[in-house]
Amino acid sequence: MSVPMHVLVFASQKGGSGKTTLSGHVAVEAERQGAGPVALIDTDPQGSLAKWWNVRETPAPAFMQCTFPNLLHDIERARSEGYRLVVIDTPPAVTRAIAEVVAMADLVVLPTRPSPHDLRAVGATVDIVESRNKPMVFVLNAANPRARITGEAAVALSQHGTVAPVTLHHRTDYAASMIDGRTVMEVNPKCKSSLEISALWDYLSDRLSRLEEEGHERGVRAVGPRINALGKSAPAFGRRASASA
Ligand SMILES: Nc1ncnc2c1ncn2[C@@H]1O[C@H](COP(=O)(O)OP(=O)(O)OP(=O)(O)O)[C@@H](O)[C@H]1O
Ligand SMILES: [Mg+2]
Repeated sequence: MSVPMHVLVFASQKGGSGKTTLSGHVAVEAERQGAGPVALIDTDPQGSLAKWWNVRETPAPAFMQCTFPNLLHDIERARSEGYRLVVIDTPPAVTRAIAEVVAMADLVVLPTRPSPHDLRAVGATVDIVESRNKPMVFVLNAANPRARITGEAAVALSQHGTVAPVTLHHRTDYAASMIDGRTVMEVNPKCKSSLEISALWDYLSDRLSRLEEEGHERGVRAVGPRINALGKSAPAFGRRASASA
């Protein structure tokens, strides 16, 4: 039986919206829920995701060292090596390079804080995603459950596209867990943050499956070519990670 590989890109022009936090957490959660092997790619020269991965003790998800011009080749390499999910973190910018990363996505996730600055900034990222004709989903991040702006932000974002039905709240354990290369699920799998990430992955995984089905129904390969399943023991891509140039 063949198994498809999905490419999930986290993008937002706004700095600090949660791209790196969500990339690491979603990749780990996908592995935990049996959707691996998962490979991470850091296309941000700041290299925050790579630095986080370097202090991790657990090798999964794997980190894929790649240089930007070879990104397509590296994604194909991941496919041929049996990876089932590639998660790509991107820098806070609007550049041609980001548009090219987005072009490789099966689904683009736009983490957005419920703040006026973040909401004003979404247009530029949405333009890139639409120019590449890619499916996208907003994820409200670092929200205060009692603040009216959280609901208002969801309504405002829904004018631009789909808003994930899972909101991630502002909790210090998201930051604290990443200090030593872990995630909230690896610190306390039962805490509220872990349940949020779990619900987010359930939603994203469902979206990816539906997009793939729609692609097959249309007779096009919307989610990339199918590959032979190689099991879950795909090799890691090396133990020292740095962001792609
Ligand atoms: N839900 C949350 N609750 C509390 N803190 C959070 C949350 N999400 C992210 N943070 C913190 O906010 C900061 C920015 O998050 P992160 O680095 O993931 O954003 P980013 O979009 O990758 O930033 P950049 O644009 O600089 O790459 C980090 O210190 C992170 O720990
Ligand atoms: Mg980042």
